[in-house]
This record gives sequence, structure tokens and C-alpha cells, in this order.
Amino acid sequence: MKARIAVLPGDGIGPEVVREALGCLDRIADLGGHTFVCQALPVGGAALDACGDPLPASTLEACLASDAVLLGAVGHPRFDANPNPLKPETGLLRLRAGLGVYANLRPAFVHPMLAGASPLREEIVRGTDMMIVRELAGGLYFAEPRSLTAERGVNTLAYARFEVERIARAAFEAARGRRRRVTSVDKANVLESSQLWRTVVKEVAADYPDVALDHLYVDACAMAIVTRPASFDVILTDNMFGDILSDEASVLTGGLGMLPSASLGGAVALFEPVHGSAPDLAGQDVANPFGAILSAAMLLRHALGLAAEAAALEAAVYDVLASGRGTRDLAVPRATLGTAEAGEAVRAALVPRLQGIP
Ligand code: NAD
Ligand code: IPM
Ligand code: MN
Repeated sequence: MKARIAVLPGDGIGPEVVREALGCLDRIADLGGHTFVCQALPVGGAALDACGDPLPASTLEACLASDAVLLGAVGHPRFDANPNPLKPETGLLRLRAGLGVYANLRPAFVHPMLAGASPLREEIVRGTDMMIVRELAGGLYFAEPRSLTAERGVNTLAYARFEVERIARAAFEAARGRRRRVTSVDKANVLESSQLWRTVVKEVAADYPDVALDHLYVDACAMAIVTRPASFDVILTDNMFGDILSDEASVLTGGLGMLPSASLGGAVALFEPVHGSAPDLAGQDVANPFGAILSAAMLLRHALGLAAEAAALEAAVYDVLASGRGTRDLAVPRATLGTAEAGEAVRAALVPRLQGIP
């Protein structure tokens, strides 16, 4: 097949991890007779430096004309004092809004061989396989009013019925392809937006009688993620709670560098690792590229319909980890791989994994 992929490396370790993910896509294209036309575009701090806008119109237009978008990460401390319109992070939020993506899938899977690679006890993390479905287009990140003066900073946590309904449907659909359990996470004991959230989620659940639904308050969920992570299947939650809980869940899998994501529901889907630009690691060839590579696997599955290739790429990542090798952030026996070496190890493992795919 032929596909156009918009590639937005961004800042910090973004370009380093995206390079390895693209190398994997190239290998899959070569071995499978596919053509992936990749166009690199500026976003975030890189775009601020190039043209003073964290999401140039030309970048968004090129993304909208692609079959999928692969992004690294954005952000650097040197922009932290900028007003919001001139922050790298604003470029990412405008990209999500411009693509119209509202369903952010963040899987946290603990490979059996890696249950010892978490700082949590092995018997707690073993068997963890959860999918956080984070609402991505609304809530505290986008609702109005919002403002900042010297005396007062304002954000609004608001959800409209249609926003809750569509993300709930995304979660129930995801659950149907998994273990058919949804845990909706809110703060309905305090917040009106959460009370609407809970009401609408229950209504949507009526259309999915084959999926079990339960509810947790977000504070209790934060605890349960580290005390009984294997009990979760799909976690359905809002924009802010999903941001926080997914970083927490990443620890179960070995670290923040492991988690991929897919943002769906809009004109074009966006794929990015969950981690940020890690300025402390940038330029040293030490960042973990597996989250970016697993994001490329999600791209193959969700945007290009190449499910077997996606599974092969995921298996190749776990082959490397199961052999005891990894980057230095992972508690594996040989945590000595550089970013590029880790990518190359995955590509070597890919070749046998791709055999047999027609
Ligand atoms: P971060 O995710 O960049 O880093 C948090 C910690 O995890 C750091 O110790 C970092 O070294 C480590 N880490 C992150 N990714 C890693 C990887 N691939 N391999 C190994 N270790 C990794 O979060 P932060 O430090 O809070 O934020 C840094 C910048 O990134 C900020 O500007 C923030 O706004 C931005 N950010 C961007 C995104 C995104 O682009 N999606 C996500 C989160 C944070
Ligand atoms: C993430 C990041 C972003 C978010 C920031 C950088 C805007 O933390 O993708 O998890 O909060 O969504
Ligand atoms: Mn985050």
C-alpha cells in the first residue's frame, strides 16, 4: 500500500525517538512492498524558532492532507515563561484540536517477561493490560472561560453531553475488542461536570449490555492503579485525569518511555508517545524509543489497517526486552542500549516477526 505520513519530531528527545520509529516503518515498508511517503514538519519549540508559531498553518495543512501523523514530543524550559500562545505545548493542543481528535488511547501493557522491570513488586504488576481512554478535546484544557491576570488564573472544567457520549462510545467499543470491562473515572462526589459524565456514561452503557461498567473516583483510581493494576481493562476518563493517570500507569510497564498513544476520532489520526521532550536526556542518545516505536505500531493498526505488521512490530519490541536488553531507564538485566541501538535491535527482531505476513 501507499500512505502519506506527516512526521512532527518536535523538541528535545522527540527527534531522536521518532527517527527510530521511522526506521521501523521503513523496514516494514521495504520488506512488505509498501510505500510510506514521510514528510517532516515543524511543531512546538522547533516551529517557534523557525517561524514564531508553535503550529504553523503549513504544518496543520500538511497533516490534514496525510493518512496519519506521527509526533515526537514538544516543550523546552526556555519557552516556559512565554504566554500560552507562544508555548510549544500550545502547538500540540492546537494540532489535536485542528485534527479533531478526541479519543486518546493509551495502552499500558506489562509483558510477562518484564513484570520485574517495574519499581512495584512483581506480583502486583504481573498481568497488567489496561487501556486508558482519555478524552482529548475538551474539559479543563479547552473549556471557556479561561484567563490570566496578575491576580487570578482561571480555567473551566466543563463537559457537554455530546463530548461525554462520544468518548464513552470509544471506550465501550475498545472494551469489546478486549476483556469487556470499562471503569469510568471521575470526581462525581464533588464536580458537576463529573456528575454529567457519570450520567451519560451510564446511558451509553445501556447500548453495550455485553460490557461491564463500574465507576471510581479519580483519587481512589490513582491508588488502585498501583495496588491492583491487573484488575483494570479499559479506564475511561477526562482530559486532565487521563493525562495524570497515564503517566502513573507507565511506571507499571517499566517507565514513561514505554507508553504509546493513538488519538482518534478526527479527520486524521495522531500517534505520539505519552512522554514529553525530556530536556534532561536530549542529545545524549539515551532516551527510550520504545514508546515512539509502539506508537508507530498503533499507526499501522489504526490509520493504515496493517494489523499484522503492527503486531509484528510490537512483538519485536518485546523480543528485545525479553532478551534482557533495554535503554538505561528500564530495570532490565542489560540496560545499556542507546536510543539508536535500541531502534536497531527492534529492526533486527522485526525481520523474523514479519515473515509469514502475506
Ligand atoms: P517528560 O515526559 O519529558 O519527562 C519526565 C521524566 O521522564 C524525566 O525524568 C525524563 O527524563 C523521563 N523520560 C521521559 N521520556 C523518556 C524516554 N523516552 N526515555 C527515558 N526517560 C524518559 O516530562 P517533563 O519533564 O514534565 O516535561 C518536559 C517537557 O516536555 C515540558 O516542556 C513538557 O511540557 C513537555 N511535555 C510534552 C509532552 C508531549 O509532547 N506530548 C508530554 C509531556 C510533557
Ligand atoms: C501529554 C502531554 C500534553 C498533555 C501537554 C504537553 C500539552 O502532557 O500528551 O500527555 O497534557 O496532553
Ligand atoms: Mn502528559
